[in-house]
Amino acid sequence: MKYRSITGVHDILPPDTYDWQFVEQVARELFELYNFREIRTPIIESADLFERGLGEVTDVVQKEMYIMEKGDDRICLRPEATASVVRAMLQNNMHKTASINKLYYIGPMFRHERPQAGRTRQFHQLGVEMLGSLDPTVDLEVIALAMEFLGKLNIGGVKLKVNSLGCRNCREKYREVLRRSLNNSLGRLCETCKERYNRNLFRILDCKEQQCRAVIQNIPGIQDYLDEDCGQHFDFVLRGLKKMNIEYDVNPLLVRGLDYYTRTVFEITCDKLGAQDAILGGGRYDNLVEEFGGPDMGASGFALGIERLLMVLGKLELLPKKEKPLQLFICAAPGGAEVKTRRLTVRVAYRLRKKGIYCDTDFENRSMKAQMRAANKFNAQFVLIVNDASIRSDRGELKNMATGEQFEIDINDIPKKILGE
Ligand code: HAM
Repeated sequence: MKYRSITGVHDILPPDTYDWQFVEQVARELFELYNFREIRTPIIESADLFERGLGEVTDVVQKEMYIMEKGDDRICLRPEATASVVRAMLQNNMHKTASINKLYYIGPMFRHERPQAGRTRQFHQLGVEMLGSLDPTVDLEVIALAMEFLGKLNIGGVKLKVNSLGCRNCREKYREVLRRSLNNSLGRLCETCKERYNRNLFRILDCKEQQCRAVIQNIPGIQDYLDEDCGQHFDFVLRGLKKMNIEYDVNPLLVRGLDYYTRTVFEITCDKLGAQDAILGGGRYDNLVEEFGGPDMGASGFALGIERLLMVLGKLELLPKKEKPLQLFICAAPGGAEVKTRRLTVRVAYRLRKKGIYCDTDFENRSMKAQMRAANKFNAQFVLIVNDASIRSDRGELKNMATGEQFEIDINDIPKKILGE
């Protein structure tokens, strides 16, 4: 083999593509029901957009971005789409024509991470962003939609974890508390967290290393340091979730990996996944629009990893049957004016498809036996055999593959026969 796809990047082949279409279809229908509208932003953006938007010290920006330089441009493959959506809204003045923008997207993202089960370098997200309001009802709308989507797919074993990171002021206060509390235990942290202490303090809280977990469990949570407004906001969200019968756990250690988050953050994990158990993550980002030069405006959203979702759906056998049987396979009976008959098969297929018949034919000039094998392989419900005489008569032999019954038929009558019209 001369060429292979690059590490951590995969082909999605038929029939698996039908699983993708299924999930995308359920998402589109539900997101539209909630009055979100689709946005498609470019896959390449200025690298600066994410460096600024996600935070210089995040893992994504420090280690995982695919960056290319072309002339004076420093561009990258998007590692996520929230920053892109904010940019697109501002660039196209969408915030001026609507006070709230409810947008969703489906597409590939790129992060140069170490590939493992549930983690690839090109992966796909389904996401929503709701921009324009600081009101906590937005958090409820977004979280409810996330839960409803997984509910629609009948996924069990999911857990919603929520936390509040407060606003900038709360975080500054908490940063000091954290710094002081961790100062004496620095020696017990893993090497990465020792580094994080100086440049990415909050990420220490969700380190998975046992030694760090032991230290972290004695650290006061951010909840005690939320100011009145942030405290009330979080309270509103938690009460709202209860009223909507959405089960959740408050996890004071949930900090999320991107710097733009403020106040409510959430993650949904699934016990059917391995180490990479986060199927979906999101939260508020009330400063990002302003940071990108727009007005002061609240926003919240989430993104779900489609690969991880499909892993869960596959394990739980929740994916619908992939291939639908072909309605008709058209065979050319070998004989005198073979060339003409073969041309006829394509012509008949062309005609019948115009009438909505899902059909196919032989393209390899094969024997009758091989053509019948092909029909079986496609699970064809009917087979139409045409021969030289069919060219003039416009008639052929139709065989019902389930009953074995075979009879002569006018080709014009086939749609009626197959579709039962
Ligand atoms: P994120 O947590 O970085 O958030 O990614 C969201 C989801 O994408 C994860 O929960 C996971 O399912 C999937 N994912 C991330 N990285 C990979 C990977 N390397 N391989 C496979 N799946 C992956 C965001 O991207 C935010 N933009 C979400 C958001 C939207 N927050 C507000 N609005």
